[in-house]
Amino acid sequence: MLTPAQIHDLPKVELHLHIEGTLEPELIMQLAERNGIRVPWADIEELRRQYEFTDLQSFLNLYYANMAVLQTEADFADLTRAYLRRAQAAGVRHAEIFMDPQAHTVRGVDLATCVNGVASALAESEAEFGVSSALIVTFLRDREAAEALTMMHDLIEMRAPIVGIGLDSAEVGHPPIDFVEVFALAREHGLQCVAHAGEEGPPEYVWQALELLQVSRIDHGIRSLEDEVLVDHLVTHQIPLTVCPFSNVRLRVIDTLADHPLPAMLARGLAVTVNSDDPAYFGGYLDDNFMALTDTFNFGAVELATLARNAVQASFLTADAQAPLL
Ligand code: ADE
Ligand code: ZN
Repeated sequence: MLTPAQIHDLPKVELHLHIEGTLEPELIMQLAERNGIRVPWADIEELRRQYEFTDLQSFLNLYYANMAVLQTEADFADLTRAYLRRAQAAGVRHAEIFMDPQAHTVRGVDLATCVNGVASALAESEAEFGVSSALIVTFLRDREAAEALTMMHDLIEMRAPIVGIGLDSAEVGHPPIDFVEVFALAREHGLQCVAHAGEEGPPEYVWQALELLQVSRIDHGIRSLEDEVLVDHLVTHQIPLTVCPFSNVRLRVIDTLADHPLPAMLARGLAVTVNSDDPAYFGGYLDDNFMALTDTFNFGAVELATLARNAVQASFLTADAQAPLL
């Protein structure tokens, strides 16, 4: 049985973390007060009572609504620093962090305000918290691809400090194929590509993300298991899947943690990694996910080391930067 200290000391890398999903109720209330924004909740307890989800969309509704309190560059920087502090406490060594700029620009926040706010905190992450970091901008697949394409051009023009792009938000009915042009432009500019696929959507979306968007990682991807040819492909090419156990349970993709296919995925030879997705909403950060998996599946040092190593190797760190974590 592994102890919390052993989980802490595992060289953990987080590859699937939405910075807006780290917005804790306490910070929502603080930022609401600082910015003079009225929130529909009387207090933190009432807000916390909203954190019961029936599916991805029911979560996204609250996730986007709560972002109203993020207004200034300082708000985005404070949010990011709060996450980095918690990541440091969890023993996270490197984090590749998603942000959803469209969720902010649609409500009148400048692209530069949100990107620079997050990026300014990340620029100090290693010095301040001992956590190296990289930023990945994710596009909202339930909005027009033309809007994403315009934003991609804007990000290139402003030389945004990003390593890659991703695709997220409501999946079903919004296939990767719609975003081919956006991802081609990103690749032309040397950016890495990832996409959420096979969370609620079918295996076909995972194929599209791989073949049409040419992503190097699949975010979630657990519905890949429904397509044995796809599983073979993912194993053969060792394509990393950034799996998020707590998220899958809270969004009812899986009934309980004990039903999670992660052990079967590992046994099948998939390049599985463990991540926290939106930890403020789903009941825990990366260390909590690892601890719960250990308790539920009786994982020992070997399984945990494999999961940690998979994440290091799936990261966009150079081989030199990966070496001390392996
Ligand atoms: N945005 C934030 N969390 C997400 C998730 N789990 N799936 C899709 N989009 C998201
Ligand atoms: Zn996600």
